[in-house]
Amino acid sequence: MDNGAGIIAARPIHARAMAAIHAAGFRAAERWSAEAIGRLLALPVCFGLLHPAGGMLVGRVMADEAELLTVAVDPTARRQGLGTALARRAIAEARGRGARSMFLEVSAENGGARRLYGALGFAAIGRRPKYYAGGGDALVMKRTLSGPGEVEAG
Ligand SMILES: CC(C)(COP(=O)(O)OP(=O)(O)OC[C@H]1O[C@@H](n2cnc3c(N)ncnc32)[C@H](O)[C@@H]1OP(=O)(O)O)[C@@H](O)C(=O)NCCC(=O)NCCS
Repeated sequence: MDNGAGIIAARPIHARAMAAIHAAGFRAAERWSAEAIGRLLALPVCFGLLHPAGGMLVGRVMADEAELLTVAVDPTARRQGLGTALARRAIAEARGRGARSMFLEVSAENGGARRLYGALGFAAIGRRPKYYAGGGDALVMKRTLSGPGEVEAG
């Protein structure tokens, strides 16, 4: 299991590398360009994480709410804990920025990602029908980041 030791805070100069990993993880219509990633990383409310073994994540914190905008792991590096390590680091980053909850959207058909998020303490709180270009539904998942009695998942 990857402990995330090599993860770095991404800056706009990392956008190209992150876009390449994203492109390997998503269908053409869902890919984010290096320009789009670079623009997000330049925003103070956004943060990026890059795993040198082939993982990337973009998150955003506004007021006390965080959103995990995207995460991808290169197909050759999957099932080694990179996705989990990136999501854990994002949770820590969001907490450090003052977020009290984190949200994300995931395809209802993406069983692997849903399992990953569930293991980290996210729970489905809503559904957006026909959200994706191909007609698939999105699930909205939420995880509390702070509060009395919270038990750290994992
Ligand atoms: C989802 C994704 C980021 C997971 O990355 P990863 O590094 O392989 O994830 P991890 O190794 O941390 O997996 C942790 C757990 O999640 C679950 N999981 C992850 N991928 C899975 C899959 N394809 N099938 C079933 N379970 C899966 C498993 O429970 C896994 O634990 P295990 O390997 O001990 O069984 C990666 O598959 C990916 O980039 N997919 C394409 C892009 C995508 O779907 N992103 C998420 C969109 S919201």
